[in-house]
Amino acid sequence: MSLHLLTHPLAAHIVTHLRDETTKPATFRTLAHQISLLLALEATRDLTTRESTVQTPLETATGRVLAKPLVVVPILRAGLGMVEPIVNLFPDVSIGYIGLERDHATAVARSYYCKLPPLAGRRVLLVDPMLATGGSAVNALSVIAQRGGEDLALLNIVASPEGVRAVELAHPRVPIYAAALDRGLDDRKYILPGLGDFGDRLYGT
Ligand code: PRP
Ligand code: URA
Repeated sequence: MSLHLLTHPLAAHIVTHLRDETTKPATFRTLAHQISLLLALEATRDLTTRESTVQTPLETATGRVLAKPLVVVPILRAGLGMVEPIVNLFPDVSIGYIGLERDHATAVARSYYCKLPPLAGRRVLLVDPMLATGGSAVNALSVIAQRGGEDLALLNIVASPEGVRAVELAHPRVPIYAAALDRGLDDRKYILPGLGDFGDRLYGT
């Protein structure tokens, strides 16, 4: 099972307020920021570190620093709402962009943009708030793998069982970090109970 669900009570609290249809875009953005921070911490728990010696005002101290550069790749446009907290946590992170948009009738994702930094030897965090059919995530993970990404993790705020299965099938070695695993998809491939269209709620469109 490649799915890791957040267990912190604050994660459940934030997801409930994200689901609430009365939550306005400004609060929605703050909540998205907070939950992304929790997801990023969970997805980087196993990052490798190396020994480093620094001089404190009093004496020499030996500690550890991160050994591997990090890359964050949002799936546009909703994934953009998850980037800033990760940049705040890891200021040296490189950022790539993958633009995918689901067709309203078929729910199949169409690619419209891709710009990625070097990926080999780096932990790549692919961020997208919603994992519905899994089509967008599978597409983006394939692009990242073709461009040399080997150490990948997928971060979603809400996942569906269908989406998790699709990613597990196509990319069995990629761990998925999610704040909630919902019941399923409706006829239009929206997650139930879900929180609606994340991009629309984030950007007030
Ligand atoms: C949403 C969401 C994911 C995708 C998930 O984006 O942000 O990228 O749908 O659905 P899937 O798992 O079935 O592929 P959308 O295509 O609506 O674009 P947007 O971010 O520009 O709103
Ligand atoms: N994209 C969204 O924003 N919400 C869903 O429920 C499914 C796809």
